[in-house]
Amino acid sequence: RRPPSRKGSMADVPKDLLAQIKHLEEIFTVPKETLDKIVTKFVKELEKGLAKEGSTIGDITDIRQPMNPTWCMGFPTGHETGTFLALDMGGTNLRVCEIHLPEEKGEFDIIQSKYRMPEELKTGTADELWGYIADCLQQFIEYHHEGEKLDKLPLGFTFSYPATQHYIDHGILQRWTKGFDIDGVEGEDVVPPFEKALAERGVPIKLTALINDTTGTLIASAYTDTEMKIGCIFGTGCNAAYMENCGSIPKLAHMNLDPELPIAINCEYGAFDNEHEVLPLTKYDHQIDEESPRPGQQAFEKMIAGLYLGEIFRLVLLDMHDGKHMFEGQSVDKLKKPYNIDASILAAIEEDPFENLSETAELMRVQFDLQCNKPELELVRRLAELIGTRAARLSACGVAAICKKKGYKTAHVGADGSVFNKYPHFKARGAQALREMLDWPEKKNKRDADPVEIMTAEDGSGVGAALIAALTLKRVKEGQL
Ligand code: GLC
Repeated sequence: RRPPSRKGSMADVPKDLLAQIKHLEEIFTVPKETLDKIVTKFVKELEKGLAKEGSTIGDITDIRQPMNPTWCMGFPTGHETGTFLALDMGGTNLRVCEIHLPEEKGEFDIIQSKYRMPEELKTGTADELWGYIADCLQQFIEYHHEGEKLDKLPLGFTFSYPATQHYIDHGILQRWTKGFDIDGVEGEDVVPPFEKALAERGVPIKLTALINDTTGTLIASAYTDTEMKIGCIFGTGCNAAYMENCGSIPKLAHMNLDPELPIAINCEYGAFDNEHEVLPLTKYDHQIDEESPRPGQQAFEKMIAGLYLGEIFRLVLLDMHDGKHMFEGQSVDKLKKPYNIDASILAAIEEDPFENLSETAELMRVQFDLQCNKPELELVRRLAELIGTRAARLSACGVAAICKKKGYKTAHVGADGSVFNKYPHFKARGAQALREMLDWPEKKNKRDADPVEIMTAEDGSGVGAALIAALTLKRVKEGQL
């Protein structure tokens, strides 16, 4: 089944609805000039984040705190070896893996279990959070190592929130992102309460490295591809990590580190342009921000990440109904519940292959009890396309900014996350935006790769976390830590 050409499909749309569609196109389209403006500011922000003034390491009162040094020093060599646990505290699942890194680069042995991350946990108490995570780890160990006497297993913990790190096995949560809102964790080192919960249960685990998902993605992808320069997540949240030399990080100057030593920087660029200077925010974006648990934060992320795409869609449809443009005489109760629409619904609408949008009609009926006529379906489809395209084009700005800052003319970028992996056309739309921003020459051959290519990453929060734990233990052994 191929998606139909939508050309000419607006012919039967009445004037009023057509005007609404036009308006949405205006406010959601991001032209090249806007992309360029965004990237110019983005490059400055990346530099500012590394500078002495502005956010200094350890100043947890500065909620922006971008450009976090991760103490992941350099890329893997391929000789990392050993058995490691990896824990990924994602938004929807908790994943625990045991990874055996072979002597020589090759296939990893990996066993894993997934646990549901109950929604209530995201807004519950810190004790509940750490207790639940420790319970899952305990279950994992009991299941996979029943009756064995174990030495403490080293763990790479992928904690994908902004953290100030003075050491790789510690991290002070700067602020919750992605809808988490648990009291008593922000501004605190997350490792002691986590280890306490493990100790209380007698779970034989030693946290070796606390990492961000972007850093894990960068390292896992660089293990198999030496062209890899940036690790990105386009999922529930959005962010990237890349390698910087210590000598280029003024805020670390006081530590007298070897200026040539590479260190991964977690950009935390979901917080880009919290000042709302260059991002083309619509009234819907403002509403999302104001109604979120952390208004004024994660401005960039709120326009593009998976957590918010369905919410933007919901707000627009409600607004269309309130303005008496759509769903006249029908109850929109089901559209009234915040965060009720997953990005996968937009993806399904964009993938509806039928000219008459029958799958979209079915979706709107089943999900929201709404009967749509054809013109309404046209708006719904166009809206999904606009939101999805805007997300992909804006997402590419972060990658373009890192390339510009570092002077990368060519690069592989490893990307992971539900939006990157599952949202239709996201990759092609992002690549098109990169092309516009980085002014590449025309391709000689259609099949030639783009100079900067965003590609599917290796498993960052599993293999990446294990590799970083291995790299850390090696540095400890060699007395470098
Ligand atoms: C949010 C988090 C960041 C993470 C990203 C992707 O932006 O703050 O740490 O990397 O989501 O999961």
